[in-house]
Amino acid sequence: MYVAVLTFVGFGVGTIFGYLRDFMRAWGLEKRNIAEEREQQKDFVPLYQDFENFYTRNLYMRIRDNWNRPICSVPGPQFDLMERVTDDYNWTFRFTGRTIKNVINMGSYNYLGFAETEPNALKTVTKELQKYGTGICSTRQEMGTLDKHVELEKLVAKFLGVDDAMVFGMGFATNSMNIPALVGKGCLILSDELNHTSLVLGARLSGATIRIFKHNNMQSLEKLLRDAIIYGQPRSRRAWRKIIILVEGIYSMEGSIVRLPEIVSLKKKYKAYLYLDEAHSIGAVGATGRGVVEYFGMSPDDVDVLMGTFTKSFGAAGGYIAGKKDLVDFLRTHSHSAVYATSMCPPVAEQIIRAMKCLMGLDGTTQGLQRVRQLGKNTRYFRRRLHEMGFIIYGNDDSPVVPLLLYMPGKIGAFARRMLEKNIGVVVVGFPATPITESRARFCVSAAHTREMLDTVLNALDELGDFLQLKYSRYSKSSHPELYEETRFELEE
Ligand SMILES: Cc1ncc(COP(=O)(O)O)c(C=O)c1O
Repeated sequence: MYVAVLTFVGFGVGTIFGYLRDFMRAWGLEKRNIAEEREQQKDFVPLYQDFENFYTRNLYMRIRDNWNRPICSVPGPQFDLMERVTDDYNWTFRFTGRTIKNVINMGSYNYLGFAETEPNALKTVTKELQKYGTGICSTRQEMGTLDKHVELEKLVAKFLGVDDAMVFGMGFATNSMNIPALVGKGCLILSDELNHTSLVLGARLSGATIRIFKHNNMQSLEKLLRDAIIYGQPRSRRAWRKIIILVEGIYSMEGSIVRLPEIVSLKKKYKAYLYLDEAHSIGAVGATGRGVVEYFGMSPDDVDVLMGTFTKSFGAAGGYIAGKKDLVDFLRTHSHSAVYATSMCPPVAEQIIRAMKCLMGLDGTTQGLQRVRQLGKNTRYFRRRLHEMGFIIYGNDDSPVVPLLLYMPGKIGAFARRMLEKNIGVVVVGFPATPITESRARFCVSAAHTREMLDTVLNALDELGDFLQLKYSRYSKSSHPELYEETRFELEE
């Protein structure tokens, strides 16, 4: 309770000072840096809603240096950052020309470590680049379907164990452009409250009615499903043309894994469809990296629309939709992305093919499997140590997305700055991206992190946790420190 109270007090103090400074700006006692209405336009409806950016202006600006830091190397387990300083309290930044080298990267979604620049690993990608160049300059339905796309789509379908798949040049557009092709007016979308913006946008663009259920909460979902069946559409009371449930595999801010078995049984009970976004779970969970369907030992046929992106585990770009042949054939002709968007560039397709073949063991090695297992080991180790140090962390034990709760707004900036002083790059998140009392740091564990790197981060966190009083949990220390002495990963027989 005292943490919650102090968090509100923190925001309260920030807000009071915000008002004070706005007052000073209005009276010309402090410089105004934000866009404002011109004098000639004062009789118009205001273009800039002044209060809307109160938060940005007065609270976010104080800690803005912790976001959008330019990185100037591949986002591998370590990366280089461009050093920048501000002369006007974070309103603008100036590069010093120096580079902060070898910062441990705890923020990128490079789950399997495929974001790499090792020339040997990228041999086939370089070859494709020389063969095809970078641009396609046409859509899939015109002249933009290459043998590389066909090869990739067949491989994705095989990897997922479904009839067919279609790939798109952008993960975000895979959701936002395909959901409107599948549902429309008279249909009902049931969407998890924490779904990604691309799913939200797709749902809104579709024109279907949208109802939100509480995050991963089956009672809330069942209530909506039951009401949808009993009452049908508002006013006319006719049955919904289609009911579709939108969920993600792993939620990127919470680290929670979707409760797939319960959702599948609900969708079967109420005869709804299920659309599963595996952006963060494909490659990252499941014994062989095949996502949450494999993680729960279910069949891909249980999910009507399997969606995923190649931006995370595959170190590339783009997205896919996979499932029954009828579904994919329908999208090939009806999706806006197929008709109006330029298709994926071949070197990117090749990067996905190389990563997927590696995962499937088609490159003749067990390296892919090793990466998946290493990720699982790293994840469980990192989470267990944080838990035992007394931090409050969210999410499932097997989720490589690890949110660590900071709560108080003042601790966000202090945490990220001090971690960077120790050469550790972290992502911090606060209101409005999280509920007001739940500011957090969000770590992404990678298979490419060595035990040494993770220990460096954990030691820094231990120290900082005491200094900033972040160890909010009452959980006691481990009675088995010997468990952590293992330093090398070896593939078991
Ligand atoms: C759940 C989810 N879906 C879709 C996307 C969009 O994917 P992309 O970044 O590949 O465009 C993201 C991106 O972070 C995501 O987290």
